[in-house]
Formats: sequence, structure tokens, C-alpha cells
Amino acid sequence: PASYAVFGNPIKHSKSPVIHRAFSEQFEHELSYRAVRVGLDDFEAAVERFFDGGGSGLNVTVPFKERAFALADEASPRAARAGAANVLLPLGDGILRCDNTDGLGLVRDMVANNGWNVTGRRVLILGAGGAVRGVLQPLLGERPHSVVIANRTSTKAEVLAKDFADMEVPITGGGYTELEGQTFDLIINGTSAGLQGDLPPLPANLRVSEKCCCYDMVYGSEPTPFMRWSAAHAAWAICDGLGMLVEQAAESFYLWRGLRPATGPVIKDLRNQL
Ligand code: ATR
Repeated sequence: PASYAVFGNPIKHSKSPVIHRAFSEQFEHELSYRAVRVGLDDFEAAVERFFDGGGSGLNVTVPFKERAFALADEASPRAARAGAANVLLPLGDGILRCDNTDGLGLVRDMVANNGWNVTGRRVLILGAGGAVRGVLQPLLGERPHSVVIANRTSTKAEVLAKDFADMEVPITGGGYTELEGQTFDLIINGTSAGLQGDLPPLPANLRVSEKCCCYDMVYGSEPTPFMRWSAAHAAWAICDGLGMLVEQAAESFYLWRGLRPATGPVIKDLRNQL
């Protein structure tokens, strides 16, 4: 059977094998999908071994997404924009193509699954690391009214805003204090602060609009600190990143196998198992 894997470090808690097993069962395809912990010095060699051994496709996660982009022979425009890839697919003759499905996953979860609008909305993004860079192009493609990127290290947010300034959406970057008194319709948390139980230092007079939606790109069995902040500020809708995870996987499956799995039931099952 066709063989797939996700390479990361750490990888123990990866839900990708469960997700791809559920997808393959929908089509009664026989395939294997393993989660592999790859040594920090071994990534490039491990990718080569995997495809030399007949592997059909790879997902790549933290901390290898930039290296996956660097080693690929060609890149989709959205991966090139991100400078990072979470999907590798062999094109034959030893040629590897990379793609990045994280941003599409985020947009699909917000728009298709949750019914939120991005178009025309004042968007605030928290964080300016790899996770945020990876999703900006598909997000800007939805044509929000404007995007503000706020980050603890404000220069990183400024650089990111500059890198995406050509996409016909007003985009600015800075620190958290610059958010004072501003109002937003959609707030996306792309920081890893929640993983340590922290919340980015949002000013007390940051305003959420009447129909403001709040999305945390991370997820867990409990509401994250950002989700609790959102509830305390009477956000209209609040969501974590579980659906984004499943949607990026579905798009990976589509790139490899040309079929679109149903994601709703998979998200529901995973939610029940958290
Ligand atoms: P990732 O690939 O998850 O984006 P990263 O590139 O290390 O990882 O970025 C982590 C992001 O979370 C950064 O925006 C980081 O802010 P800095 O750039 O200032 O470091 C942010 N972050 C992590 N812990 C945070 C905390 N406790 N408070 C606020 N921001 C935090």
C-alpha cells in the first residue's frame, strides 16, 4: 500500500495518523501513515531515505517546515510566500515539490466550517513567528479590510507586514501597546504563548466589535488562555485550532491522492477524544 508519514520533533502527540486513517477509510483506500520523530541533524537524509524507499508523500511539522521548503526542488506559490512547507510530494524522476496547506486550513475552518466572514473585516493577528508567516497569504487572499500584526518582538511584526505589503490589503505590524483603543472584527492568535498557559499582553482597552470572532490556532482539551480572554470580552464566536489541523490534513490528502475527504465527522470524532 501507499505509504505516508509526518516528520517532526517532537511528534508523540501528533494526531495526523488518526486523521489520515479516517480519511483513507472514507474511500476504503489502503495506505499507511506513520508519525516519525526525526533527529534534528537527520531531516534531509530522512526525507531522501523515505522517498528513495518508495514513500508517496510527507507531512512536515515543527521544527522542519523551513528546511522542507529549502530542500524541495519546486514550491507552490503559497509555500514560497511562507518560506516554509508542511507537505512534500514526489513528482517522479526524483523531483520533490513542496506546498503549504496551513493557511488554507485556517481559512476553511473559519469560513466553511464556522461560517465566519474574513472579507471586509478588520483583522488582528497575534504573533509573528513561523505559524503566522505560514498562513498570511491565504488569509490576505480573502480580502480583509485591513490586517494588524502584533508581536512581543515588534520588529518581527514590522518585517512580516513589509513582506506581505504587496497583497492589496493594508497591513501593519508592531507591538502590543500599539493596539490601545483599536477595534477589531476578527482576532487570530498565532502565538505559542498558550502552550505555556500564557496570554499575549493585550491592552485593557483593546476593543472587540459587536460580531467579533476569535480564533486560536492552538487547541487543547480545555479552552486556551486566549479563548478565555475572548469569552471575557464577549466575543461573538470563539474557536480553537482543531479544525485547522484537520483541514490542512485534508488538503494534504487531496494533493497526494486527488480526493477531498469529508472533514466534519473527523473534527467531531477528534473533539470527542480530546
Ligand atoms: P511558531 O512556529 O509557533 O510560530 P515561533 O516562530 O517560535 O514558533 O513563534 C512563536 C510566536 O509566539 C512568536 O510570535 C512569539 O513572540 P516573539 O517573536 O516576541 O518571541 C510568540 N510568543 C511565544 N510565547 C509568548 C508569550 N509568552 N507571550 C507573547 N508572545 C509569545
